[in-house]
Amino acid sequence: MPDAPGTTTDAPGTMPDAPGTTPDAPGTTPDAPGTTSAVPGTTPGTSAATPAVSGASTPAPASAASAPPARTAIPRRLLMCSPSHFDVTYSINPWMEPEKPVDGGLALAQWERLRDLYRELGHTVDIIEPVGGLPDMVFAANGATVIDGRVLGARFRHMERTAEGPVYLSWLREHGFAETHWPEHINEGEGDYLLAGRRLLAGTGFRTDPRSHAEAQEFFGPPVTGLTLVDPRYYHLDTALAVLGDDEIMYYPAAFSPGSRAALREMFPDALLATDEDAAVFGLNAFGDGRHVLLPEAATRLAAALRERGYEPIGLDLSELLKAGGSVKCCTLELRAG
Ligand code: ARG
Repeated sequence: MPDAPGTTTDAPGTMPDAPGTTPDAPGTTPDAPGTTSAVPGTTPGTSAATPAVSGASTPAPASAASAPPARTAIPRRLLMCSPSHFDVTYSINPWMEPEKPVDGGLALAQWERLRDLYRELGHTVDIIEPVGGLPDMVFAANGATVIDGRVLGARFRHMERTAEGPVYLSWLREHGFAETHWPEHINEGEGDYLLAGRRLLAGTGFRTDPRSHAEAQEFFGPPVTGLTLVDPRYYHLDTALAVLGDDEIMYYPAAFSPGSRAALREMFPDALLATDEDAAVFGLNAFGDGRHVLLPEAATRLAAALRERGYEPIGLDLSELLKAGGSVKCCTLELRAG
């Protein structure tokens, strides 16, 4: 069985890289809140070849010295699950404190805002019926991984969530996804599998078993690159890294092992790096369609940096879902047609 290229071998916890001590420490991003020149609603640079015009008061990254490129949104098909049974009744990540009350009505309103926004932006949103007793089922990203119409089912690490995998797989089968694979190894769907261009970034360290990466490689095709997470607050790849467009990502370096950071630097030298503050408000749990980036509204620095790069950040308040360690991306599973 071929190894997933770039798979790192260090287990979480063996590399205590404290935030701030990493070579690519947050704070190296050139933007500060409030200093961007782009105004929401204005059209970003119309041509990548536009000569550099002064306007940005801050220095541009060395590799992107001219006006930001025009960004184009690509309509997606998404699957979401209403939080009507959402609650925090157990704790399987450091964000979950069952003794803290959850406002169910507010959770629903916040989730509906996200769903409506996707539709307003031109995306298609399918809805899967929530199941009682599965309070985390709202986090649709974990339900499967769908690439080129092929479905890799999710097999959860914690028994509190194991029943979700078959529910999502049945829904996908019933909705025309015939090529499905029930996994041998634990993987938590798009929580740990993120497609960037034609490269599948694959998280491990807390949830997804690294052996799943080879299984995904055999099933899907696009090259799989393993990335090891080391900070328990960022237990899924989609809490520490977001895909913005085909080949552009943003991530929080301190969430990754040194080897994985090196791989990310090499693959994405121009990536947007998140600060401690933006990561801590779940700013990386974002959905990008190529132009719009939906992200937690508290990630203000990240939003400013995205605007400088020609993206249109849209902040959302998903405070209730954050009590379970989830936000925008966690609520969103992308259904990529064949
Ligand atoms: N409470 C859920 C868990 O710990 C949150 C899942 C968030 N989903 C995600 N794609 N990161 O599994």
